[in-house]
Amino acid sequence: MHEPGAPLGIFDSGVGGLTVLRRIMDRLPHEPVVYLGDTARVPYGTKSAETVVRYARGCARILMDRQIKLLVVACNTASAYAIDALRDELSVPVLGVIEPGAQRAVNATRSGRIGVIGTAGTIASGRYQSVIESLAPGTFVACKACPLFVPLAEEGWSDGEVPRAIAETYLREILDRDVDTLLLGCTHYPVLREAIAAVAGPGIAIVDSADATAEVVAEILSAMDYAAEADGAPVYSYLVTDAPQSFARFGDLFLGRTIARVDWVDF
Ligand code: DGL
Repeated sequence: MHEPGAPLGIFDSGVGGLTVLRRIMDRLPHEPVVYLGDTARVPYGTKSAETVVRYARGCARILMDRQIKLLVVACNTASAYAIDALRDELSVPVLGVIEPGAQRAVNATRSGRIGVIGTAGTIASGRYQSVIESLAPGTFVACKACPLFVPLAEEGWSDGEVPRAIAETYLREILDRDVDTLLLGCTHYPVLREAIAAVAGPGIAIVDSADATAEVVAEILSAMDYAAEADGAPVYSYLVTDAPQSFARFGDLFLGRTIARVDWVDF
């Protein structure tokens, strides 16, 4: 049995999941968290389903050893490919980013036409499409992989002429299909939100899986009576499988906070 004071476990392929952690910290400021970035194996978005499932199991094992009370799979690609396996195998609740994001997009659309963008793996998996279909049968979904958004975000090149030109090139075919909602189905895309919103225009609702996931984490903790006590500042631990120094640099951009200490682990 896991205690309410036990930490949440969150993993991602690298730094991107810090956008999800940021929302969780904002929504649940008392929860201790162990975050794992699999920086030795990033990116996941270009890898096969089998490989991503293997990596996800390795990440989950490290976090389970830390006695977490709930596992958040912050990586969209890992959520797309590995969520079923992790749910079957782990003894704690497992939440991915796809179901919360899909639910929010379904709630946001008025026309029943949704655009979804993500990594090549996430889009190829068909997971967003099938979850949206199960939530709101008959919804039209236009998808597009936007692989250059990940390095752009990591360069800190979040807005301006080049990001907007790339966004225009990627998004045009989705926007031409008359969607009224655009779902950011990748950890890195919230960093590019302004450029994406500028290209999409004011008539399109931008929905963020990170934000939606934080809300569902709060709901699960409250339903299970698992929320931490509000006594003092919670402990945040950051683990990576490679290059702790360069990970810490992403604190400001992706997390909006300074990361003081990062520990190196591996599986
Ligand atoms: N974290 C990944 C995702 O959300 C993006 C980066 C990667 O390809 O590993 O799908």
